[in-house]
Amino acid sequence: MAPVQVKKICCIGAGYVGGPTCAVIALKCPHIQVTIVDLNQARVDAWNSPDFNLPIYEPGLEDVVRQARGRNLFFSTDVDKGIREADLIFVSVNTPTKKSGVGAGFAADLNYVESATRRIAAVATSPKIVVEKSTVPCRTAESMRTILEANSKDGVRFDILSNPEFLAEGTAIADLFSPDRVLIGSLQSQEGKDACAALASVYANWVPRERILTVGLWSSELSKLAANAMLAQRISSVNALSAICEATGANIDEVAHAVGFDSRIGPKFLRASVGFGGSCFQKDILNLVYLSESLHLPQVAEYWRQVVEMNEYQKKRFSKTVVDTLFNTITGKHIAVLGFAFKADTGDTRESASITLIRDFLLERAYVTVYDPKVEEDQMWMDLAEALPSMPLEQIKKQVTIVHSALDACKQKEAIVIATEWKEFKEIDWEAVYAQMSKPAFVFDGRMILDEAKLKKIGFTVKVIGRGDRL
Ligand code: NAD
Ligand code: UGA
Repeated sequence: MAPVQVKKICCIGAGYVGGPTCAVIALKCPHIQVTIVDLNQARVDAWNSPDFNLPIYEPGLEDVVRQARGRNLFFSTDVDKGIREADLIFVSVNTPTKKSGVGAGFAADLNYVESATRRIAAVATSPKIVVEKSTVPCRTAESMRTILEANSKDGVRFDILSNPEFLAEGTAIADLFSPDRVLIGSLQSQEGKDACAALASVYANWVPRERILTVGLWSSELSKLAANAMLAQRISSVNALSAICEATGANIDEVAHAVGFDSRIGPKFLRASVGFGGSCFQKDILNLVYLSESLHLPQVAEYWRQVVEMNEYQKKRFSKTVVDTLFNTITGKHIAVLGFAFKADTGDTRESASITLIRDFLLERAYVTVYDPKVEEDQMWMDLAEALPSMPLEQIKKQVTIVHSALDACKQKEAIVIATEWKEFKEIDWEAVYAQMSKPAFVFDGRMILDEAKLKKIGFTVKVIGRGDRL
């Protein structure tokens, strides 16, 4: 059997991964019809909105959707039709950390992957290549195959591939246009290799062949968890060093620069911060911890768990610095928090360090004014309510004000905290801000984006993550 010529693709899950990834496939492969399906009507409506008010903010995404939507890119809630018509189906649904039951707090909740897989089995009437795009524990493809084979109609043939996604939010379109690599895992049978070749030929429309890596299924699944764990580990390492810098007067910028100059280490991903956020690093490491424990490898589990613990420590350390510096109490004080998203250039707030900081400040009974250029107000209230289950929403709303500009946020505050590295925060008129603040006026830069010397010259007391006072 020769590899299938892919003509129709269905992507189940129109989220941060399914939406941009399949929009780019549609753009780069005008000969392939791409339908992205989701159960969430509001999300699909937003993808279809006439004024391109898309459900996620991602630089360059709107342009891609404008070019392909209605041509060979479609968004729909008709999951069954999408499945039935496709030769190749991406499963790109969410895989959050389980909140209850076995493995709660660590294992990935595979409920969404399983229901999508069962739906494929229930409605498919022709052979399908089913591609695991979601990040999943090692050997999930085997469970998917068992479900598909046990439930398929009249022996319909399914080939399963793993094709994890490595895009980062905020740079998703650039990452998808020129990925470092595309990874495809398959069974090493002839059928598996043929399915792999069919998917590789889709990517080959714009990705150089040497960047398309083909490996075994389990290696592919594990490589995704490994890549995220190692990226997060770099941040926890540099954040651990930032604590030493603060205590000794060393400068983490200089340390990271010097260390990153070693070509074996490299300069990227060594920016100390108030802690990593995002929907995946913590979730995927906890998943790896769970996997290690299930495999009776407690030392391995402990090793990876420490990466998450260091991240929690970093967030706590930062809010403690704020309290300590503001004369050991922030009760009744007014603090501006600039940034709510987990990183710049996204509206995504999942696991954002900003949420943890605001929670800590509210528990100290401070008043917080928040500004973020992209995060919707409703999202902020939802996140804060979830982070503070014991505090009624009315109380949260008494202590928190959401405003629509950085300057408004900073007006008449005692301290300003930079929680997200949005570029516009560098361009604030700091002299004007200083003039309005009660003195001494404090700035806490959790992202190392501000010009410390300039702020100090204006009169601010400045605390930058990873920089000690002792020189
Ligand atoms: P998301 O929550 O933004 O999107 C998932 C979508 O799937 C939701 O819109 C949900 O309604 C839909 N869905 C769930 N079950 C469904 C079903 N049975 N049928 C149809 N639709 C269904 O999640 P995401 O951020 O896109 O992440 C998806 C996967 O990709 C996760 O496994 C994640 O770990 C992985 N990943 C995410 C990123 C990222 O930057 N967000 C990057 C790489 C990998
Ligand atoms: C990360 C990975 O970079 C992607 O390769 C992966 O596909 C994705 O997770 C995923 O699986 O979801 P993402 O979380 O979108 O992407 O964004 P990153 O740029 O990795 O940033 C994650 C967090 O680390 C952010 O809070 C960021 O501010 C922080 N960070 C990043 C640092 O604190 N320091 C750094 O040097 C880099």
